[in-house]
Amino acid sequence: MSEPAPHLAQPLTARRAGALHGRARPPGDKSISHRAFLFGLLTRGRTDIDGLLEGEDVLRTGEACKALGATLERLAPGRWNVHGLGIGSLLAPRGVLDFGNAGTGSRLMMGVVGGHAITATFDGDASLRKRPMRRILDPLKLMGAQVLAEAEGGRCPITLKGADEAAPIVYRTPVASAQIKSAVLLAGLNARGATTVIEAEASRDHTEKMLAHFGAEVRVEIEGEGRRITLQGRPELRPNPVVVPADPSSAAFPIVAALIIPGSDIVVEGVMTNPLRSGLLTTLIEMGASIEKLDVRVEGGEEVADLRVRASELAGVDVPAGRAPAMIDEYPILAVAAAFAKGFTRMRGLHELRVKESDRLEAVAAGLRQAGMAPEILGDDLIVEGGAPAGGGLVETHLDHRIAMSFLVMGLATAKPMRVDDGAMIATSFPNFRALMADLGAEISG
Ligand code: S3P
Repeated sequence: MSEPAPHLAQPLTARRAGALHGRARPPGDKSISHRAFLFGLLTRGRTDIDGLLEGEDVLRTGEACKALGATLERLAPGRWNVHGLGIGSLLAPRGVLDFGNAGTGSRLMMGVVGGHAITATFDGDASLRKRPMRRILDPLKLMGAQVLAEAEGGRCPITLKGADEAAPIVYRTPVASAQIKSAVLLAGLNARGATTVIEAEASRDHTEKMLAHFGAEVRVEIEGEGRRITLQGRPELRPNPVVVPADPSSAAFPIVAALIIPGSDIVVEGVMTNPLRSGLLTTLIEMGASIEKLDVRVEGGEEVADLRVRASELAGVDVPAGRAPAMIDEYPILAVAAAFAKGFTRMRGLHELRVKESDRLEAVAAGLRQAGMAPEILGDDLIVEGGAPAGGGLVETHLDHRIAMSFLVMGLATAKPMRVDDGAMIATSFPNFRALMADLGAEISG
């Protein structure tokens, strides 16, 4: 197999900023944007999307949908139409599906392919090639898919031959992962009969919600801390417009910036407050953050609010492992907030952080050390003693957008600037990060 495309690194520096002020709307939610394209592909007819995140990850998913037969039209920024072929009518893609950095896009699309009698090769950048895929392939094999080729350890590039006749299964996910759950449900769309996914802890529920939104018969039962989701296969999905709310995982960066830069007072607009995505807000409020929900409303079937955030004296807290699924992408930026909090913050049960775009547990600890701090990793826990981080370091981002943004936010409040070795990946999830932060008064330069 070929080498992944060469990557042009873009080093960035963040300097201590004056207080942040103003209003900002982060881009559309990445999870919902990927799913909007995929459901558009799986629905016969035209799906209208508004507020789509036009980040590189989502655009890769869009390209893959085209390769499977969808037609995509961009009408205006964030406004797209997808003309889909419908379940059971997808085309076999001709070339390799190159997902770049996109774990979600590739894994969800493996589910789609796994349930259809087509063969596709999945690949991506050096970060994606390191990510474990057996967690997706295992249940798909139970449904009848075959792995024709894979790199060592079940990694990309992977050639997957979908099931001729997908078998409905009952599957208990080994870790709380919306990506595993979603891959099984998407494959189950083309199975004859009911597919059930059981998760011990509830992970984000965008796939279930979107299945219902497009008219599939899906039942969600609460089981303790977890859920049992049952989908009736072979529905005729009906086109239904998708409105994408602002991504809470992107909102997290201006929110924490405002909390740690003295005198700041900002409003972050239209942020999705889905409880399965709100662990960071819960934790920050426990730490003493001044975050006020204004104008709570419903957009695209999700509760959204404008969040007024004021600089706050934060105190360290103990973050229970059970909260991880509701804030799995937010630990890097929480660690930055913890660095400015009084006392110790212990973040428990972070094993899944090791298999994200980078080994985020190690990358965060290394970044904090670059800022002059002494974090500790104890098993799967990260312990940060807060104070007044000196800054002045160079952070290795390992092709991870959230590591880059987290340490740039940190540099807005440290005594000396913080540098990151590469900010190019920020475009995967938050293309206007620098412009949005600059509008609020931050200084991030190349
Ligand atoms: C996502 C699920 C999460 C998250 C990722 C997006 C999704 O992964 O980290 O950024 O859209 O389903 P896991 O569910 O595998 O933890």
